[in-house]
Amino acid sequence: MAANLRNQNQLLSKMAIGDGHGENSPYFDGWKAYDEYPYHPIDRPDGVIQMGLAENQLCFDLIQDWLMKNPKASICTPDGVLNFKDTAIFQDYHGLPEFRAAMAKFMGKVRGDRVKFDPDRIVMSGGATGAQETIAFCLANPGDAFLVPTPYYPGFDRDLTWRTGVQLVPVVCASSNNFKITKSALEDAYREAQEKNIRVNGLLITNPSNPLGTILDRQTLKGIVSFINEKNIHLVCDEIYAATVFTNQHNFVSVSEVIEEDTECNRNLVHIVYSLSKDMGLPGFRVGIIYSYNDAVVNCARKMSSFGLVSSQTQHLIAAMLSDDEFVDRFIAKSKERLDKRHKDFTEGLKQVEIDCLNGNAGLFVWMDLHKLLKDQSFEAEMELWKVIINKIKLNVSPGSSFHCSEPGWFRVCIANMDDSTMEVALSRIRDFMHQNKDQNTEVKMPARKLCRQSSLKLSLSRGKVEDFMSQNNMSPRTPIPHSPLVRART
Ligand SMILES: Cc1ncc(COP(=O)(O)O)c(C=O)c1O
Repeated sequence: MAANLRNQNQLLSKMAIGDGHGENSPYFDGWKAYDEYPYHPIDRPDGVIQMGLAENQLCFDLIQDWLMKNPKASICTPDGVLNFKDTAIFQDYHGLPEFRAAMAKFMGKVRGDRVKFDPDRIVMSGGATGAQETIAFCLANPGDAFLVPTPYYPGFDRDLTWRTGVQLVPVVCASSNNFKITKSALEDAYREAQEKNIRVNGLLITNPSNPLGTILDRQTLKGIVSFINEKNIHLVCDEIYAATVFTNQHNFVSVSEVIEEDTECNRNLVHIVYSLSKDMGLPGFRVGIIYSYNDAVVNCARKMSSFGLVSSQTQHLIAAMLSDDEFVDRFIAKSKERLDKRHKDFTEGLKQVEIDCLNGNAGLFVWMDLHKLLKDQSFEAEMELWKVIINKIKLNVSPGSSFHCSEPGWFRVCIANMDDSTMEVALSRIRDFMHQNKDQNTEVKMPARKLCRQSSLKLSLSRGKVEDFMSQNNMSPRTPIPHSPLVRART
């Protein structure tokens, strides 16, 4: 069997037999555990609850309602069938003009109409995933690098590097200032890359941040724009969570606003990645956008988009939906309202058992601080705790190490991909676990992290307890969870 596989592999490319896709990360292992035994309130009440999937499922009712009222937009209905032929015939890579116009308008609306987007700069891609790869192909050669502030979305390791040969260089951010991107952290990463003879072509930021659930303030964004201008490198801004900012105290500031104000900035260096996967909760539609201020990049990316076009049926539907101002305004407002409530309910539930989270106001997740539960401040200890969370509490959350976080003990918990009752089950499991530990634990003094905020967490997971659990379940902290190689790697 092994020899057979070796023979088969000899006939394949290095890419086909390599692991550049990154499926060996714990981030994906958690999904596999969920896929094998998913929670169901009646059939599998003890199943794994999926809290590793950044999906926005809180407003499907609004979209369904719109679809019912606008049957013409779906061409596969008696009302829409007359549009079938025009939609099904060949479409070139420019996209339907009405789709680009609707997307440009939507992008402006999501950014409070403080900035306008030009439909002629809208380039399609297969989700933000495709957009990131296309932009990497346009801006860098194999071996070149992008700086990326940590912690960052693990999919970037696949999307920007796997097929392009581009590298990512971490910009180390720390909890001591709430993971802010500072000029000195950027300078350090840039210098270290240069010392290793790595050519840095760009900086990739995610605003609002996945996994932090925070937004960049205007001052930080200005600093970033001046940094990339000074170094003459590109800036790629992933803004796919732009409409998920749910408190009005701090508005989302897009890089598009900053460069509009900054007349000195070289706009040719600035590119935005966007998609409808998070803001509209439509990841299955694969609507991704590259918006570049650089004509040559627009040109090249548009040609490349042949490899990942949005189907004309989807363009047709989205054009109709996003042109409906009343629907869009209501959707954006309701989505923020529901995300806000979900975030409050969940973080307050955690507070009751003295678990803190980073203070966030955006995204579909919370960045949960469990460093005081670690037996020591190491990534091995983080993995041990993560295995307990998956296998005992039966929650698929993602460990900070898979986001390249520089400090152990952080976990990303997705909160918008489930209904209220599932969230309640998840919270009650966490509460039970914390209470059990509280009863059994003797408090161990841990070297506290330097956090800006006061931490009230007093619990610690005893080493014995983790090991007991592991041995009862025949596991070592490194035991891989069995999985099918065909499990789809979703993000
Ligand atoms: C920051 C970020 N960029 C890109 C993606 C990929 O999005 P899409 O589904 O549009 O490909 C994700 C998905 O989680 C993400 O969090």
